[in-house]
Amino acid sequence: MKLLITGGAGFIGTHLVAHFVRKYPNYFIVNLDKLTYAGNLENLKAIESAENYKFVKGDICDVELIQQLFQEYQFDGVLHCAAESHVDRSIKDPLAFVRTNVIGTVNLLQACKEHWKDNFTNKTFYHISTDEVYGSLGEEGLFTEETAYDPRSPYSASKASSDHFVRAYYHTYGLPVKLSNCSNNYGPYQFPEKLIPLFINNILHNKPLPVYGQGINVRDWLYVKDHVRAIDTIFHDGDVGETYNIGGHNEWRNIDLIRQLCLLMDEKLGRETGSSEQLITYVTDRAGHDMRYAIDASKIGKALNWQPSLQFEEGLSKTIDWYLANEAWLAQVTSGEYRNYYQEQYSH
Ligand code: NAD
Ligand code: DAU
Repeated sequence: MKLLITGGAGFIGTHLVAHFVRKYPNYFIVNLDKLTYAGNLENLKAIESAENYKFVKGDICDVELIQQLFQEYQFDGVLHCAAESHVDRSIKDPLAFVRTNVIGTVNLLQACKEHWKDNFTNKTFYHISTDEVYGSLGEEGLFTEETAYDPRSPYSASKASSDHFVRAYYHTYGLPVKLSNCSNNYGPYQFPEKLIPLFINNILHNKPLPVYGQGINVRDWLYVKDHVRAIDTIFHDGDVGETYNIGGHNEWRNIDLIRQLCLLMDEKLGRETGSSEQLITYVTDRAGHDMRYAIDASKIGKALNWQPSLQFEEGLSKTIDWYLANEAWLAQVTSGEYRNYYQEQYSH
C-alpha cells in the first residue's frame, strides 16, 4: 500500500508517521508537510532513513505538486492531518485557516477523485478532524456523531467546513472517505502554544501561567498515542462514509489540570510544593471561548473495540518527563518566531 500522510511533521502527524512506518514495513509512506512554525523534522529523526519512508516539503494547496505526487506514487490512501490547528492564531488570522484547512482539503479531495477516477476499490481518504466542530457544551451532555455542527471559532469553522467537503465528495462522487473527530490531545512533541506544553515550559522558566478567564472551561484529554491507535483502527477497519468520535472519557476543568501539572512539576524539579502554583495568573479570556468539550466515544468502542489505554495521571507524568528530557527541543522551537507570537498573544 502507498500512503500519503499530510502534516506528518506536526504534533499528531509525528506520532502517526512513526507509528505507520514502524508497524507497516510493507507500506510506503510519503509525508507531505509545509514545515510551518508547527512542523519540525527533528521529530522524525528516528525514522527518517527508513526504506519505506519519504519526506516531501510542500503545501497541500499546491495543485501541481499534489498532481505530481499522485502521478509518481499512485497512492492507495490519504491520511489528512495537515492543518492550521491553534484557536488563538485563528482569531488573529482567519484567512490562513480557510486557505489550509478548507482549500487545502478540497485540493486533496479533488486529486483523489481525479486519480482514482471510477475505481475507488481499496482506496481511502481519511480526514482527521476535531470535536470543536460541534461547538460548546453546557454542564451536561456529550458530543455524539449525531450532534449538529455549531463551530464558534475561525479554527473550528474551517475544520467544520472541511468535514462538510469530505462528506460532499462521498455523497456526490462516491469517494471512499472516513472521518474522525477527536478531543484534546497531549503528549510529546506538542508545540508549546497549546495549554500543557506552554505551561510546562513556563513553569520550567518560572514565567507566569496565563489562565484564560476563570479557568473553569472543561476539556476532554487524550494521550496522542491513543489517538494514533484509533486512527490506525478506523483507517483499516472503519466503514466507508462513517464518522467516529474519539475521546478520553477524561474531563478536566483547566484550573484543576493546571494545579495537577504544577504539583507534578514541583515534585519532578525538586521545588517546594506549591511554588509553581504561585505562577498562576488570570488573564483576559479567549474571545468566544468554548466552555466545555466532552466526547461520547461509544461508537468506536462498540464497532471497532477501541478504548483509551493510558490513565491521565500517568500520561501527564510521562509527558512532563519527556519535556524535561528534551529541553533542547523546547529551546529550539521557542526561539525565533515563537517569541514574537508570545509577546503579541500575552502582552495585554
Ligand atoms: P500541528 O499544528 O501540530 O501540526 C500541523 C502540521 O501541518 C504542521 O507540521 C504544519 O507544518 C503542517 N501544515 C500546516 N499547513 C500546511 C499546509 N498548507 N500544507 C502542508 N502542511 C501544512 O497540529 P496537530 O495538533 O498535530 O493537529 C493535526 C490535525 O489533528 C489537525 O487537522 C487538527 O485539526 C486535528 N486535531 C488536533 C487535536 C489536538 O488536540 N492537537 C485534536 C483533534 C484533532
Ligand atoms: O478539542 C480538540 C482541539 O483541542 C484541537 O482541535 C485543537 O487543534 C487543539 O488546539 C485543542 O484546542 P483548545 O483550544 O481546546 O486547546 P488549547 O491548548 O489552546 O487550550 C486548552 C484550554 O486551555 C482552553 O480552554 C483554553 C485554555 N488556555 C489555553 C492557553 C494556550 C489557557 O487558559 N491559557 C493559555 O495560554
